[in-house]
Amino acid sequence: MQHSRSPMIHALFAKQTRQKLAYEAIDASPEGLETAVRGFGAAGGKGLNITVPHKHKAMQLCDALGSEAEQAGAVNTITFVTTTRLRGDNTDGIGFMRDLVVNHNQNVRGARILILGAGGAARGILPPLIEAEPADLVLANRTVGRAEAVVAKLGAKIEVCVFEDLGQKRPFDIVVNATSAGLDGRRPPFPAACLTPDSFCYDLAYSLKETPFVRWALERGARRAVQGWGMLVEQAAESFQIWRGVRPDTTAILAQLDRAAPRVNAS
Ligand code: ATR
Repeated sequence: MQHSRSPMIHALFAKQTRQKLAYEAIDASPEGLETAVRGFGAAGGKGLNITVPHKHKAMQLCDALGSEAEQAGAVNTITFVTTTRLRGDNTDGIGFMRDLVVNHNQNVRGARILILGAGGAARGILPPLIEAEPADLVLANRTVGRAEAVVAKLGAKIEVCVFEDLGQKRPFDIVVNATSAGLDGRRPPFPAACLTPDSFCYDLAYSLKETPFVRWALERGARRAVQGWGMLVEQAAESFQIWRGVRPDTTAILAQLDRAAPRVNAS
């Protein structure tokens, strides 16, 4: 949380759209989440973003949910309809799709897609990916039962396997790391057979340096491997729109961030 880039991103949005707002990081433990959220509303706060690991618990505090939050089982955006009535949305999926399709020019329809990980991050991106009609969607997870539970809830045709079985699959057009392995410097173990030079690799995690997954993908011959900076900015813009009714021009903001602190990627 100390390293959150969201206050800086929302300050850029506010300046660009001439909105007056203050956006600051609030540190909360899982036990202290409800007190922190309700206290913020009581003090006149209008909206909150919720980050890992609170997204599931935050959902339980909401009185009404957007359809994406309901499908993902997680909330990343809270809006105070009144000081005590909370609406929960999830903008992660739409933010991811915008970055993938608009910023990185990827075709999802008809593509072979591999998602690594079956936690909250995977649940957020799966519904809009399914809607975009890929040819194949494979969900690989260390614990296969968890992946099966995610798929059962979505009711879509998704193949489930453990990382070790991926060697028997054909290469994928798009590989997304949705595990939390990269956060502590590791990467999910998956075979190089999943990649061709044309595979596009996307790490939902981001850091100022190259993430382990991005480095690994590039070393194994993928020509394009990016981390989730663009998703961070796009999901923030969706939240901003929910709160303020205006969507910032993210292309300009991403260019501005690149100039300020070049993002590491090989696109
Ligand atoms: P998030 O909300 O960030 O997705 P999460 O719900 O705790 O966090 O899920 C973490 C995901 O990363 C899970 O898919 C987890 O695998 P398991 O379901 O088997 O626990 C995966 N993960 C975490 N550390 C990992 C590692 N070292 N190697 C492979 N997968 C890992």
